[in-house]
Amino acid sequence: MDNRPIGVFDSGVGGLTAIPYILKELPNERLIYFGDTARTPYGSKATSTIKHFTKQIVDFLISKDVKMIVIACNTITSTCLTYLQKLYPEMPFIGIIEPAAFRASQICNEDNNIGIIATKVTTTEKTYINSIHKHNNTLNLFDKSCPIFVPLIEEGIINNDIMNLSIKYYLDDFVFNNKLDTLILGCTHYPLIRKTIQKLYPNLNIINPSFEIIKSVKSTLIEKNIFSTHPTYENIFYASDLSENFINMINSIFGEANVQISFKNFDLDEL
Ligand code: DGL
Repeated sequence: MDNRPIGVFDSGVGGLTAIPYILKELPNERLIYFGDTARTPYGSKATSTIKHFTKQIVDFLISKDVKMIVIACNTITSTCLTYLQKLYPEMPFIGIIEPAAFRASQICNEDNNIGIIATKVTTTEKTYINSIHKHNNTLNLFDKSCPIFVPLIEEGIINNDIMNLSIKYYLDDFVFNNKLDTLILGCTHYPLIRKTIQKLYPNLNIINPSFEIIKSVKSTLIEKNIFSTHPTYENIFYASDLSENFINMINSIFGEANVQISFKNFDLDEL
């Protein structure tokens, strides 16, 4: 038993898409979220820069006495998971890629064509392809980076003609030429445009890593015996740029859900 909070972080608002699943499945847990909204997007940055920013955020979360850290970002998982595990061997880290890779390997076979859309960094690192092939190396995998999606989503441009056109620009050829039947949303920002993608390509079976990650969060809490029984914190959401969009995004993700939230602007000079 451990009543300390769980740290969750992302380069911006994307990691928020995992939060409702965690809070629903684990109502006794409390979360400290950090979105690096002032420095997003990470997905086209150099690995050394991503590692530098990530270490700052993890040190901040550790200073808040978190018991476990969920990396709700594919770009950071691709580039930093092993680095963080070596740097902080006592801290349990949950990466977002493996649970979705496992899910794809469970529900697909060699008759399927699986697409992975992600940031430039995640596709360059080939983390999804390697993780899925570790489970089943006969699966047909195709990946594509869609660099414009994250800046548009961070601006709140989600459900309109600009986003529709951007999705079609990146995905029409990718989906039809490769005869895709399954699509992994390999960036935690993308579940925010999932409905639009599904509307444009209704036959695609979409895998959402922000949902799949809950299985690893739960199994780690069980394995380490660190479930919370009496939550003593409220959920706190830090952003390095506490913009109206960040707050709107949280409100739209939680909707009417009865979740205790407090927002804090985080001055980057403190990192
Ligand atoms: N949400 C992040 C991911 O899952 C990346 C967004 C960014 O480019 O910063 O990859």
